[in-house]
Amino acid sequence: MQAAGPSGKRCPICDGHTIYEARLYLHMRITIIGSGYVGLVTGACFAEVGHEVICMDNDTRKIKALRNGKIPIYEPGLDQLVQRNVSAHRLSFSGSIEEGVGNSEVIFIAVPTPPQVDGSVDLTYIERVAREIASVLKEYRVIVDKSTVPVKTGEKVAETIRRYSQAEVEFDVVSNPEFLREGCAVADLMEPDRIVIGSDSERALTIMKRVYEPFMAPMMITDINSAELIKHAANSFLALKISYINALSAICEASGADIEKVADGIGADKRIGRSFLNAGLGYGGSCFPKDVAAFLSISEQIGEPFPLLTEVQRINQHQRKRFVNRLRDTLWILKEKRIAVWGLTFKPDTDDVRSSVAVDLVNDLIREGAHVTAYDPKGNERVQELNLCPGVHLADSALDAVRDAETLVLATEWPDFAAIDLAEVYRRMHTPIVFDGRNLFDPNTMRDLGFQYYSIGRPPTKANSNGHSGRLANIDLGNIPKYTCRQRHNKVTQGSR
Ligand code: UGA
Repeated sequence: MQAAGPSGKRCPICDGHTIYEARLYLHMRITIIGSGYVGLVTGACFAEVGHEVICMDNDTRKIKALRNGKIPIYEPGLDQLVQRNVSAHRLSFSGSIEEGVGNSEVIFIAVPTPPQVDGSVDLTYIERVAREIASVLKEYRVIVDKSTVPVKTGEKVAETIRRYSQAEVEFDVVSNPEFLREGCAVADLMEPDRIVIGSDSERALTIMKRVYEPFMAPMMITDINSAELIKHAANSFLALKISYINALSAICEASGADIEKVADGIGADKRIGRSFLNAGLGYGGSCFPKDVAAFLSISEQIGEPFPLLTEVQRINQHQRKRFVNRLRDTLWILKEKRIAVWGLTFKPDTDDVRSSVAVDLVNDLIREGAHVTAYDPKGNERVQELNLCPGVHLADSALDAVRDAETLVLATEWPDFAAIDLAEVYRRMHTPIVFDGRNLFDPNTMRDLGFQYYSIGRPPTKANSNGHSGRLANIDLGNIPKYTCRQRHNKVTQGSR
C-alpha cells in the first residue's frame, strides 16, 4: 500500500493508494469454487487487479443470473466491480468443475461451512468439493481453502484429494483465511491489514505470493494449522471484546457510569484499541456466533476446552435479554403494546439477516404479545421471504414504522436512522419512548427533543419539564440540529479495520 505499483493506477475502490496492475506482468488464472458472499467478492477483487478469474457454483440458477449481470447479494461496490471485470473479460462464471480446475493454476474453495446443532462445523461441502477436484485433477494445482474451517481441515482435504485422484498428480493444499466484513468486504479485500497464507510447500507459496502481490499488503506465511487457527482465534477475540464491553455496560447501568466514556477511556490505550468496543445488543451475523461455537467445539475435540468462550456466548445472549427486561420494566406490560423496531439486519450496510440480534429481538417482543412494526432499509424483503418474524408488520419506511407507536426500539445502527428527522418521529409517536440498542443517538439531544430515552450502558434521560415528556409543539426546535447522531456507524466500520 505504501509503495506505488508499476502502473501508478489508483485503487478503484478507495481512490487512494496505487495498486499494482497484475495484468501488466504477472496475472494468474484462478478458479473460485463457490460464488457466495466470500467467493464472489474474492473473485471480483482478484479480477480487478488483473487476474483471470472463473467463479463457479453448483447452483445453475445462480450462475445464469450472474451471467446476466444479476448479483445475488447486496454488498456496496460489488455490482460495479463485477460488471467492469466481466466486460474486460477477466471475470467469468461457470458451473463446470472440469472447466474450473482444468483452466486455472490456483483453485480456491469458498463453499459454506454451516454450523451443526452441537456447534461443530458441517464440512460436507468442503469434502464434496475435494472429491470433485480430485476427479478432474490432471496436472499440478494449488488448492486453497478460503472457507472458514476448524484447524486440521487442510490435512483432511489433502488426504481426500489424494484418495480420490484418478492418477498420481501433484498438488498442494493451502489455507488462506478471509477477513472480510460484510458491508465493506470490497475495501477489506482490496486493502487488507494482512494476508495469511498457510503452507509448507515452496512451490505453492511462490504461486500464492503472485496471486496476492498486487494488493501490496503484509503477507504472513505460516504452517497450514496455524493459518486455520488464526481465523477462528481472530473472530473469537473480536467477539470476546464485544462481550467484554457489553458486560461492562451492565455495570455502567447499575452504577450510573457512561459506557461510551469508559470505552473511550480504555480504548485510548493502544494495547487495547477502541474498535469492537461498541456496546449494543450483542454480536450476530453468519460469522461470530458460528465461529465462536466452532472454536469451542474443536478445542473440546482436541482435548483443550476453552470455557472463556462459553462465557462470551452467555454474555452475548444475556445482553438482549437484559434489554427486553428493561423495556418491560419501563412499559410494565409488553402485551398489546405497539412497538416500532428500526433495523432487522445483523449490522448496517448489508441485507444479511442471518443470526441477527434484531430479528431475535423482534421475535422476543412478538412472543410477549406486543404488536411489532419493523423497518429495515435492506432487510425487509429477506425477513419476509424467509418468514423469520411471523406476526411482524413490515413498514415501508422508518417514519411509517413509528406512526402511533408507543415505543421505538433501535436494533441496527443504519446511517439512515441517524439522519432521520427526529422531530417528525416525535410527532408521529403515540408516546415518545425510545430504546436505543446501539447507542446511535445523543442522550442530551433526545432529552431536549422531549423523548424518554434509554440506551445501552448510559443513564436514561427524560424530558426536562415535569418528569413527563412534553409534546414537541411546546419545544423550540430552533437550536436543535436535525442530525443528532454521533455517526457511530462510521466509528464501527472505520475503527474496526
Ligand atoms: C466478521 C469479522 O469482523 C471479519 O473480519 C470476518 O472476516 C468475518 O466476520 C467472517 O468471518 O467472515 P462480519 O460478521 O461481517 O465480519 O461483521 P462485523 O463488522 O465484525 O460485526 C459482527 C457483529 O458484531 C455485528 O452484529 C455487529 O453489530 C457486532 N459488533 C461489532 C458490536 O456489537 N460491537 C462492535 O464494537 C463491533
